[in-house]
Amino acid sequence: MIKLNSLTFLDKKKNKEKISMITCYDFSFAQIINETDIDCILIGDSGSMLMHGLPNTVHADTPMMASMIAAVSRGAPKKFIVGDLPFLSYRKSLTTNMNNVEVLMKAGSEALKLEGAIGNLKLVNHLVHSGVPIMGHLGLTPQSVHTLGGHKVQGKEKEAQIQILDQAKKLEDAGCFSLVLECVPSVLAAKITEALHIPVIGIGAGPDVDGQVLVLQDLLGFNDGFKPKFLKKYFNANQIFKGAFNDYHKEVVSKAFPTAKESYE
Ligand code: KIV
Repeated sequence: MIKLNSLTFLDKKKNKEKISMITCYDFSFAQIINETDIDCILIGDSGSMLMHGLPNTVHADTPMMASMIAAVSRGAPKKFIVGDLPFLSYRKSLTTNMNNVEVLMKAGSEALKLEGAIGNLKLVNHLVHSGVPIMGHLGLTPQSVHTLGGHKVQGKEKEAQIQILDQAKKLEDAGCFSLVLECVPSVLAAKITEALHIPVIGIGAGPDVDGQVLVLQDLLGFNDGFKPKFLKKYFNANQIFKGAFNDYHKEVVSKAFPTAKESYE
């Protein structure tokens, strides 16, 4: 399987081939994904919640992202690696923004994702011309959870739809090589996908986009209580892992493990 990059990502759209993207935050899962057909790995700032137990992505920072990006890129050298720029790390002075970008690219990212268009367009252009492929992110932008009043579907009203479409076009014009659209009505996602030349990757954006992204722990069913409408669970990790941990515990206390087979002579 040929490793994707920011240019072949565009070819996928031209050839009408769907793109599969999955988040990942650690070396062990990266090694497994490396041996699959998945097209692209996103080291999302959702790792702040899933790996560190923080309440939202506002708490991610550059050192945290760099550590996860380094681990994943070491585990999955055959996969195209996109990392998230964390909250406010690209909203400061140009020097600070560029320093943060440099840390994440040198950690192993091959492209970076940032949220929102307003106030980011000049930076996107500067980054692209500095050799950093940029993925945009519109719709539900979790770093703005406090201004959005929670993790809610975006673009339900006509005016909001016009704004999201306009911002998508501006991000494309600024040089983004692709765009994540999160939690928007399918009809809006389809319209944006048709209007853009760059691939649109959806999460909660329906089927008529160029690819899909899901959070690894969500698609594997780590959290029984997390059941958003857009999520399909491909595994029941919660029950299966608990079963394995309990089996191990039982065998330790009953002295069924270890046997001679697992012991050195
Ligand atoms: O951080 C993340 O996991 C993301 C995806 C949901 C797109 O940005």
